[in-house]
Amino acid sequence: MDSARRKQVLDALGIESWSPRTRHAPTQLLQVAVPTQAATVTVEAAPAPNQNAAMLHKFPDPSAPAFEVPTDWEGLRPAVAGCMRCKLCKTRTNTVFGVGQQSAPLMVVGEGPGADEDAQGEPFVGRAGKLLDEMLKSIGRSRKAEVSDQAVFIANVVKCRPPGNRDPEADEVEACRPYLDQQIRLVRPRLILALGRIAAQRLLGTEAPLSKLRGPLYEYGSEKTPLLITYHPAYLLRSPGEKAKSWADLKRVHQFLAA
Ligand code: URA
Ligand code: SF4
Repeated sequence: MDSARRKQVLDALGIESWSPRTRHAPTQLLQVAVPTQAATVTVEAAPAPNQNAAMLHKFPDPSAPAFEVPTDWEGLRPAVAGCMRCKLCKTRTNTVFGVGQQSAPLMVVGEGPGADEDAQGEPFVGRAGKLLDEMLKSIGRSRKAEVSDQAVFIANVVKCRPPGNRDPEADEVEACRPYLDQQIRLVRPRLILALGRIAAQRLLGTEAPLSKLRGPLYEYGSEKTPLLITYHPAYLLRSPGEKAKSWADLKRVHQFLAA
C-alpha cells in the first residue's frame, strides 16, 4: 500500500499510528467453544415460497417433512431467496445471501441486514458497510477481489432484516443457522471474523458480553474453523474511541492469514 493510500485508510479508521505488515507464526488456539448444533444440516422443513400467507403462522411447520439444506451454491442461493423458515420473511424486501469470493480465506459474519441491505440484497452497503470496506482495505482485502490473498466472503447470521433494526431473536438465528453453516462449509475459510456482540454470542452460544468474548481464538462448528471476534463497524461509528482496538484485531486477522 503506498503511503497516501495508507494515510487515507488510517484517517477513515481514525487511527494515527501504523505498524508495517509482518509475517508471524500462526496464532495459538487458546479456547474452544463449539456449539454442537452448528454441525446440523438436516432441519425441519419450511413451507415452499408463494404459499398461502396463513401458512406463515407456524415456524417451522411441524407437519412438514424433513428438509435438507442444499449443499452447493446453485441450490443454496434459491433456497435462501425463497426461505420462509422464520417470521423475518414476512417483513423483508430482499433476502441478503452474502457477497464475495466463494473460496475466500477470510469470512466476515455480521448480525443481519439493515434498511439499505434489505433494499439492495447485499450485506454491509450502508454507513457501517462503508467502514467495513475501509477496515478490510486496510488489510488489503475487498469484497470484489478474486485473488485469494485479497478476498473475503461477507455474510450475516440472519439473511433477512429484523424490523426496525432490532436484534435478531434466538429462534430466528437458529432457523437461519443451517444456511450460514453451509456457506462456511462451501467457502472453507481459514478464518471467520465475527462482527459485534450478536454475531459473537450466537456463533459461540453464549450470552457473555463482547468485552469478554473479544481476544481468544475460537473454533467454530464441526470443521473447527478458527474464529475471532471484533467490534461491529456500526458500534465503531458510535464509539470511535474503540477504533484502535479494532485495528489491533484487524492486524491479528492479517497476521493469521499471512502465516
Ligand atoms: N450490519 C450487519 O450486521 N450486517 C449488514 O449486512 C449490515 C449492517
Ligand atoms: Fe429464512 Fe433466514 Fe430469512 Fe428467517 S432470516 S426467513 S431463516 S433466510
